[in-house]
Order: sequence, then structure tokens, then C-alpha cells
Amino acid sequence: MDTFDCIATKVELREFAKDKTVKAEAKAKILEAARLTGSSRNTQHWRFVVVENDENLKRLASDSTTGPWAAGADFAVLILTDPKIPGHAIDAGIALQDMQLAAWNLGIGSGIFTGVREDKLRKDFAIPQNLEVTAIACFGYPLGNVTGKKKNRKPLTEIAFGEKYGNELKLN
Ligand SMILES: Cc1cc2nc3c(=O)[nH]c(=O)nc-3n(C[C@H](O)[C@H](O)[C@H](O)COP(=O)(O)O)c2cc1C
Repeated sequence: MDTFDCIATKVELREFAKDKTVKAEAKAKILEAARLTGSSRNTQHWRFVVVENDENLKRLASDSTTGPWAAGADFAVLILTDPKIPGHAIDAGIALQDMQLAAWNLGIGSGIFTGVREDKLRKDFAIPQNLEVTAIACFGYPLGNVTGKKKNRKPLTEIAFGEKYGNELKLN
């Protein structure tokens, strides 16, 4: 898929097909996208915990405050970053986006959440104290047809300016 089309058509999913499982090669490609992502000073401080087991996905859902739908995912990836690295959350964000786009290119949907019951999550997934659980991405084939789903976005004129904040953008 063309990169722009991938960005334009990718939507967040919170429901996943039960009857179609994601193959190991596809999972490996999604993780490879994360591995190839750049990071602050190329520190590559992120770590990824892949959760595939149904019981653990249910545990992940119960450890979340904003992602109860994680229980229905095919698999999930916990993105851990080192909070001592400046820009660590940006590093998590771009690795996450690269995984989501690599997945969407294969027809695999994804949804992310950040709200967690931290102590329980750390215990359940053996997260080291020096790493932060910055985001969690859940993957699976879409339930039903999600192509053409309209995105609710502000117009460019409201969010982008020319030369100085507030100036109308007129691209040359
Ligand atoms: C930093 C960040 C945190 C998010 N946290 C959650 C979350 O906790 N739970 C959730 O259901 N969606 C979460 N989302 C998903 C957003 O709600 C979603 O990206 C937005 O609604 C746009 O969705 P769309 O691309 O399908 O239009 C988060 C997105 C971002 C970028």
C-alpha cells in the first residue's frame, strides 16, 4: 500500500475478528517495523513485550483503565521505554506508529491504550522498575468492514500556520 494511503485509511480498532488469526510471520514483520524505527540518539532503549496468550490478554484488559477491549485482540505489544532518556515517549510513539502502519499494510488493525493499573500490570508482566509502560498496542484482523470509515479531524487551517503562529498558511 502507498504510505500516504496507509496513513489516510488506518483507523483505531477496538474490536477484532475472532475467526481469523494473525500468523507468526505477520507478527514478526510488525515487530521488525518497531526494531527498525529510529530513537533518540539511537539509544534503542525501548523494549517490547508481546502478549499472545488468551489468559494474558484478559489479564492485560483487566490491568487497563482505558483498554478493556484488549481481551479481544489477537495479540498485544507492551511498549516500555526508559524515562531517563529525553524524548522517550516520542520514541515509543514512533515505534508504535510504525507497527500500526506495518500492520495496516497487511490488513491487520490495531488500537492503543495508555491507561493502566500500574502496580498490577508491572507484576503481571514482570516489568522492570527502570522501564515505563508508555503505551500498549493491540492487534487483530478487523471485525467487519472498516474501509472508508470517516476520520474526525480538524481542518488544516485550524492546526497549521505559515511563518508565525496564527498566520494563515499559504504554501508556495
Ligand atoms: C497517545 C494516545 C493515547 C491513546 N490512548 C487511548 C486509550 O487509552 N484508549 C483508547 O481506546 N484509545 C486510545 N487512543 C486512541 C485514540 O482515541 C485514537 O487515536 C483517536 O480517537 C483517533 O482514532 P481514529 O484514527 O480511528 O479516528 C490513544 C491515542 C493516542 C495517540
